[in-house]
Amino acid sequence: MIDNLPSIRPDRPNIITSEIEAISFYRKMNTQETVVEMLAGKYVLVEEFYSNGLQVLSELKRNLQLRYKEKSFQGQRDYRSAFREASHRLLLKVEDNELVVRKSPDIGWLKNLYPDVSDFYISFPEVQGLNSSWQWYQKGIVIDILHLSLHPFYGTYFPTRFDHLVLFDKWLKTYKGDRKKAIDIGVGSGVISFQLIQSGFLNVFASDTNKNAIIGVSQESVRLGINDKITLSYGDLFTDCDFQADLIVFNPPWLIAKHKLEEGIDKAIYYEEDLFPRFFEQAEKHLAPKGKLVLIFSNLAQVIGENKLHPIREELEKNKRFSKEQQLQRSVKKSSKKTKRTDSRSNEKVELWVLTHKEKNE
Ligand SMILES: C[S@@+](CC[C@H](N)C(=O)[O-])C[C@H]1O[C@@H](n2cnc3c(N)ncnc32)[C@H](O)[C@@H]1O
Repeated sequence: MIDNLPSIRPDRPNIITSEIEAISFYRKMNTQETVVEMLAGKYVLVEEFYSNGLQVLSELKRNLQLRYKEKSFQGQRDYRSAFREASHRLLLKVEDNELVVRKSPDIGWLKNLYPDVSDFYISFPEVQGLNSSWQWYQKGIVIDILHLSLHPFYGTYFPTRFDHLVLFDKWLKTYKGDRKKAIDIGVGSGVISFQLIQSGFLNVFASDTNKNAIIGVSQESVRLGINDKITLSYGDLFTDCDFQADLIVFNPPWLIAKHKLEEGIDKAIYYEEDLFPRFFEQAEKHLAPKGKLVLIFSNLAQVIGENKLHPIREELEKNKRFSKEQQLQRSVKKSSKKTKRTDSRSNEKVELWVLTHKEKNE
């Protein structure tokens, strides 16, 4: 069941639907001069072949690397921001929801996300993002724990490492409480909700502040034939949840934000300072008296020296709402067997925290 789905439309890259003044770029043209024009603020339209756009981007990179030689954190940040700004002036033309240039990838999102418009211009980097997302969506990601593949919707967080899911699965197999109602905050591509349903929970309420996550999980639930067991809510934390659950699970973002968060996938990685205090305050009200509150976290922030604070430890120390019942952890496997990880992330561990209501007389 999907509560507020019919009223939401997916987030999608911005497009230009009006006629624009742009320099047409053909393979034989001088790429360096074209990039100089682009940096001066002109739009450039890729003509003939898709690869002509790659040629312009690679020249833009070369040009900006000469201008931004500073290797400091700020220097590299300035470089990336200049690249982002200029590269979005490199455009591709879409007609009948397909790219016009030859030898370009087939990207179904150009049709699926734009049912209301067939002809438009879109920036080359956005097309690269859509293309990579479409490949994942088509191919699917095998989730061993679930014995199935998930097909993540455009703009949705999906796991590429699975240690936290293994840890949660291990704990779930030991769980002895009721399996009537669960809440999954920050559903993403749905992995945790699907784990809960596979393990016998009759009803899962799942929320996310990312519209595309909600739309994607809704489609996946129908495909997997479990849509009668899941209630989806597009909104913050426990919005529209009016019951107490036997189990609440939250795999939150793991790094504190130092920038203003954008809607969408940014909120899967970074959290604002008030997220955890707000979560714990509301979780206390939505957890059944004998319920378990499970948080999946990581020592990533500590490992990369980002901050010393740990929002779950802080909650347990400062407030008298919850007691720690269990804390499990597991080392994060490197993503490829071939790469020897010598960086600081080799100490990375995922953590699983199991909390319960604090006994009033504790
Ligand atoms: C690290 S991802 C986890 C996704 C999924 N549960 C998983 O384990 O793969 C965190 C998710 O929480 C969502 N999120 C962040 N802040 C939220 C909030 N205030 N309310 C609901 N969801 C939120 C993000 O959009 C993202 O989908």
